[in-house]
Amino acid sequence: ARHFEAQSEKTLALIKPGMYDHIGQVMTEIARAGLKIIRLQMLVLSREDAMEFYAEHQGKPFFDNLVEMMISEPIVAMELMGPSAISAWRRLMGPTEKDRARMEAPNSIRAKFARNNTYNAVHGSDSPASAEREIAFFFGRPGYFPTTATFEKSSL
Ligand code: TYD
Ligand code: MG
Repeated sequence: ARHFEAQSEKTLALIKPGMYDHIGQVMTEIARAGLKIIRLQMLVLSREDAMEFYAEHQGKPFFDNLVEMMISEPIVAMELMGPSAISAWRRLMGPTEKDRARMEAPNSIRAKFARNNTYNAVHGSDSPASAEREIAFFFGRPGYFPTTATFEKSSL
């Protein structure tokens, strides 16, 4: 159990709109990076929820387009667990902007799949505090986003 705790940082990953045909590839890359998907849900965000999820960006010039993008198609929300899960997933994602991703991290998910700086394929929590908030946002509201089984105490 002690060994398991050391491996158990958690983060929130989203496969964003525009990625419907690439969901499997993203999940494969997560597994190959040594991260576990411990909760998973496909859903369509309401506008209100998209605005709340990205509240830190309210007032920025890209905010309205960001919200419209986030509600334009189903997304896949995943709780990931593993050693340094927050930074490991951000590394797999690559830089926020499409061009930077292609220049600086050509094998990253954003380098391969971002269409532009709004439809940029994936989201990942950027700190332990945002991971906690974002995991609760998607998986801590039984009845709205139905909860699924967790495997936190199993021998994953
Ligand atoms: P941000 O939190 O800065 O990036 P990240 O997703 O890497 O944590 O921004 C959130 C999202 O807002 C980003 O994924 C795409 C969108 N966005 C734009 O559309 N234009 C921009 O100039 C920026 C900075 C972000
Ligand atoms: Mg961010």
